[in-house]
Amino acid sequence: KNRRNVDGNSKDEQLEQFRTEDKDKDLTTNQGLKVSEDEFSLKAGERGPTLMEDFHFREKMTHFDHERIPERVVHARGYAAHGEFELYESMKDYTAAKFLQEPGTKTPVFVRFSTVAGSKGSGELARDVRGFATKFYTEEGNFDLVGNNMPVFFIQDAIKFPDLIHAVKPEPHNEIPQAASAHDTFWDFVANNQESAHMIMWHMSDRAIPRSFRMMEGFGVHTFRFVNEQGKGHFVKFHWKPKLGVHSVVWDEAQKINGKDPDFHRGDLYEAIEKGNYPEWEFGVQIIDEADEDQFDFDILDPTKIWPEEEVPVQIIGKMTLNRNVDNVFAETEQVAFHPGHVVPGIDFTNDPLLQGRLFSYTDTQLIRLGGPNFHEIPINRPVCPFHNNQRDGYMRQTINKGQVSYHNNSFWKNTPSPVSPQNGGYQHYQEKVEGRKVKARSDSFKDHFSQAALFYNSMSAPEKEHIKEAMSFELGKCKSKDVRQQVVDMFANVNLDMAQEVAENIGVKPPETGGSEVAKASPALSQENTTKTAET
Ligand code: HEM
Repeated sequence: KNRRNVDGNSKDEQLEQFRTEDKDKDLTTNQGLKVSEDEFSLKAGERGPTLMEDFHFREKMTHFDHERIPERVVHARGYAAHGEFELYESMKDYTAAKFLQEPGTKTPVFVRFSTVAGSKGSGELARDVRGFATKFYTEEGNFDLVGNNMPVFFIQDAIKFPDLIHAVKPEPHNEIPQAASAHDTFWDFVANNQESAHMIMWHMSDRAIPRSFRMMEGFGVHTFRFVNEQGKGHFVKFHWKPKLGVHSVVWDEAQKINGKDPDFHRGDLYEAIEKGNYPEWEFGVQIIDEADEDQFDFDILDPTKIWPEEEVPVQIIGKMTLNRNVDNVFAETEQVAFHPGHVVPGIDFTNDPLLQGRLFSYTDTQLIRLGGPNFHEIPINRPVCPFHNNQRDGYMRQTINKGQVSYHNNSFWKNTPSPVSPQNGGYQHYQEKVEGRKVKARSDSFKDHFSQAALFYNSMSAPEKEHIKEAMSFELGKCKSKDVRQQVVDMFANVNLDMAQEVAENIGVKPPETGGSEVAKASPALSQENTTKTAET
């Protein structure tokens, strides 16, 4: 009964037309022909060879041969559920987004949780970041909040993402190891890209081994922009806060669970929803006035930084409830296509260089993962509002567009889809003033890599600090290159000297003698000498 919640849920109503239950039906081919035999192929004599002419055998086998699609290049292992978002507080002063205007407004959502590094069949209790991607099916189109369970990221510029993921995935020469944070290339990447320091602290913390998807926070990470009816913009960060609180397992539990039940997290979510024990998250926003953009001792566009909640409180504005499991994991969970560029009027981007690059990557990868340009027609990806344009054709086109004309500004057919003014709901990009020279560079305001990493460590309780040191010793201890191990502890001396010294003792390298973020700020990059040494090791 928990799978159906059709009343009033526009996405569920839409999906209903695509659902089929094959119980009590005649077996047919895909051409609708009834089949009389499904156990034995057509043969020339009972013990003779199978005949090519057996179209039923050929069709069945061909379909099976083509059942797999590429797994996601990252976040391959995931699990999803349907639900709804209800607004508590109007955001009218800040955004024109319709689903954020009237308290009580309900919007259907689809949420996919994931690990990042492991393959589709990997264990769910790996030490890793968790994806937390939400598709809001609003009446103005889909808004996707493609977030993680940690509020910062490893890198500041999207151009490094392929490098990061190559370093995190199994090494190319032997496809070992699956566990991202336990190998040489991962730690070598960290040492050579020290902007990762803050994220690594989260990654080594208990946040990387959640007890349940239901007990994780979610973060949009980037700085987005709210734009209100009057065209005024505000910077905004998005948060999900689980009603059950944030809980983790300890590493020993994680390893045992991973061995005994690698499906632990998906099982936990599925069972909770089946039992009617619906997980809930409150939705929060941090908002900064445009005039205050430069008032912080970090750059508010830097995705390796949080906005401290004491300085910019999280305002809770709504609640999301997941109340329905999927009917078919492939059709829904596997084929869903999230994209941080799916926005609605009133929500816009900023110049965060990580976000800007993500805006390219998602559709690009989905074009190959989902086989061409028509994956928006797959039921799970369709908006609940109508969509019309002059795009045509391509692999697997489902829509039958009628009419002679498929281009805008024509003299034959005045009713061809045409643009809508912003006053009538047409999306208008925020008219931010931008000036500067074209440079491939990082802003100086993005150069402090250690202050917030140190703040994070200092904010931990004593047991949490122990867990971080143990995690780092365990994971970095797996790194075979002594030189890389040394570089990493030297780097983390800039976060906390005691921590780095203790880890160094544990993993058999020289304890660093100096540290502190001032040192780090002065020398954020590794010397060429060290980098060369690593290559030789
Ligand atoms: C998935 C790229 C950073 C969250 C993906 C996918 C790609 C990608 C190619 C696979 C999408 C698919 O096959 O459908 C990138 C790039 C990044 C980046 C280029 C940085 C430049 C981030 C960040 C976050 C994030 C910062 C969190 C705020 C996710 C999530 C998924 C995902 C949650 C899985 C979506 C799902 O469940 O289907 N990313 N990503 N990514 N990414 Fe990113």
